Amino acid sequence: METASEGQKVATGEVARGFRKRDAFATGLGVLTATLGSAVGLGNIWKFPAMTGQNGGAAFIIVYLFCTLLVGLPVMMSEHMLGRRARKDAINTMRDLAPRRQPWWLIGAAGGLAAFLIMAFYSEVAGWVFAYVFKAASGSILSTDPATNSASFGALVSDPWQALLWQWIVLIWVGAIIMMGVSKGIERVTKKLLPLLFVLLIAVCVRSLTLDGAGEGIKFLFNPDFSKVTGPVVLAAMGLAFFKLSVGMGTMITYGSYFKEDQNIPATATKVMLADLTVSILAGLAIFPAVFALGFDVAAGPSLLFEIIPAVFASMPGGDFFVIIFFLLTAIAATGAMISIVEVPVAFLTEQFRLSRQTATLLTLGLLALVGAPAALSFSELSETSIFGKTFFDLYDYASSNILLPVGGLFICIFIGWVWGFDNVKRALSNDGALNNQGIVALFFTVVKYITPLLVLLVLLDGLNIL
Ligand code: TRP
Repeated sequence: METASEGQKVATGEVARGFRKRDAFATGLGVLTATLGSAVGLGNIWKFPAMTGQNGGAAFIIVYLFCTLLVGLPVMMSEHMLGRRARKDAINTMRDLAPRRQPWWLIGAAGGLAAFLIMAFYSEVAGWVFAYVFKAASGSILSTDPATNSASFGALVSDPWQALLWQWIVLIWVGAIIMMGVSKGIERVTKKLLPLLFVLLIAVCVRSLTLDGAGEGIKFLFNPDFSKVTGPVVLAAMGLAFFKLSVGMGTMITYGSYFKEDQNIPATATKVMLADLTVSILAGLAIFPAVFALGFDVAAGPSLLFEIIPAVFASMPGGDFFVIIFFLLTAIAATGAMISIVEVPVAFLTEQFRLSRQTATLLTLGLLALVGAPAALSFSELSETSIFGKTFFDLYDYASSNILLPVGGLFICIFIGWVWGFDNVKRALSNDGALNNQGIVALFFTVVKYITPLLVLLVLLDGLNIL
């Protein structure tokens, strides 16, 4: 193992300068914050509320919780194990660990495609967040009026040049961080700032929950109406679980490849899952009571965050200042997540084709600007263009979260349960017997071999109307 990792270090040369350097993850806390930095992002603050609002609230959240526990968590542990064993990028990890001539590397390749599709729309939403930092700083967004806030968001996204420009700013920002090899620095910043975001979210929750008429929002969040739970809704919840924990496309394989041998994988993954859930629920508590109290549209979708957050801050002392901080911290959380997405193709290109980190990053981001443009323009020039009945923005989102990530996760589970086998899993999860966790190992193996793949398969077939 040691020779393998040394070899890779030499082969990837400057890659080792970034946060990918093994010693960046020298402490348990480093691993935890890096993994958390990938998981926590726009998924919690933007996507979770948007989807919860569109899919009926509490019942959706309950289904999402089950998916997180029975699908997201096992897949995350699986990816960490594989990455740590092979110590390679996602594609080469699968190629190395698979029996000869079996094309398991295709999982990694599908992950590469998913990375592009996700970044294509994620960078646009991040662009809106960046734009809102500046809008907030110029003092132009604070209002509790639904029509005003909706118009203000609409003006941003329906201007094609603004949409493209903000996306490019985000791509250049992420590229610069990766190229300068300062990702490690960003991880450090993230580590300090995530708790701040957490505190600010709590403050927003308190304001939101004390608004007149907040009760409706609580009911929406905690009083389930299962009549709204259809096949496509369950698939959406499962897709969100994959997206939230950054699993199903190789991000966690890549991160696992930097884990130390004595990192406790089940404990790490569980902590990440719990912390991530907490942030999502807080975002829900910050947003929904205000949605109902102030008369916003609960099913607004992508615009929900950008309409409601200014409204909550508008009714808060010091709101004009704290709203800037809120969007700034959200932008930073989004940056950590984006680095972890772009890291997948960049790691592959550097390790497979011996490209320098600079070239690989430029290539990836250039491609992303191309693939991303139709997503950026989905609210203006291309708003009438639909493929399979969806705009590019929605299509990228749907195809990645609802198809590619679940399919990736399904095959990762099949690989672990049926190809890699119990002995390998036991060694990996117990750190070669150093941890006394036979119970966890046995439970995990049963779940990952039978329950998770079956669930994912059924939800996929039902959600895509194949069943
Ligand atoms: N989990 C991140 C979020 O919620 C997004 C993300 C980062 C991601 N890396 C990923 C999603 C890999 C899927 C796969 O914002």
